[in-house]
Parts: sequence; structure tokens; C-alpha cells
Amino acid sequence: MKLAFYILGALFFFSNCNSNEDYIQDVYVNINIDLNLPEYSDLQASGSSIFIEGGVEGVIIYHGVGNDYKVYDRNCSYEPSLPCSKIDSIDSGIAYCGCCTSAFLLSNDANVINAPALLPLKAYNWSLGNNNILRIFN
Ligand code: FES
Repeated sequence: MKLAFYILGALFFFSNCNSNEDYIQDVYVNINIDLNLPEYSDLQASGSSIFIEGGVEGVIIYHGVGNDYKVYDRNCSYEPSLPCSKIDSIDSGIAYCGCCTSAFLLSNDANVINAPALLPLKAYNWSLGNNNILRIFN
């Protein structure tokens, strides 16, 4: 009886983990970043990226070529509601989930390059003003 209880519990846990209903939340985002400030100097080179506050689990700003940027939420697309479902490192433009083995290519719309995730990271809109103010919004 006890064993059946554990098996049922495990089934419930694993089916919950990869639920089709598990989407990255929609939250209001409207952030202005002054790229002239020293705290954003790590973003100057093409291919660099930084984490900032905001969004669901934080925001990734990736600097592409020239004045091109990409902005995503740090919440992993695979099991977004898990507490550990957060991009916790970026190496050579590839973002890695802290929970499992999912990886996303930031220069290419954060599409998945390593399973188990299937969907890209959630992207936010951005615009760059003349004064080097990067506005991030949705
Ligand atoms: S939450 Fe499991 S791969 Fe990201």
C-alpha cells in the first residue's frame, strides 16, 4: 500500500514537471538602461551579455552586432514554475538553465540548442534612443 502511494506521488510529481500548462508568466516590463553608465560596461562588446532585475526571474540583455540587442527573461521555458528554473550562466552567447541541461542560443532568438526545453526563452521588446538609453518593454 505504501509503495503504491509512493509510485502515485512520483507520477504526480513528474507529470507536473513537464506540464503543457506550465508557461512563463506575463508580467509588466518597462525598464530604461543608460548604457553610458559604468555598471553596464560589460555589455559594450558584441556577443556580451548581462543580467538585470525585472521580468519573471530577471532579464538577460545580449549585445549582438553593432546596435543590435536581444532581451529575454531568465525564466527557463521548460519548467518555468520550478524554483530553480532560471538561467544562471551564459558562456559564449549560450544561456544555461540552473535546473537541468537546457541551453539557449541568445543570438538566435534564444532557441533551444540542448534538451529538455522545447521552447525558446521569452523575449522582450527593446529600442535604443540617441542618448544610448536602452528601453526594454512588452
Ligand atoms: S527548468 Fe528544467 S531545464 Fe530549465
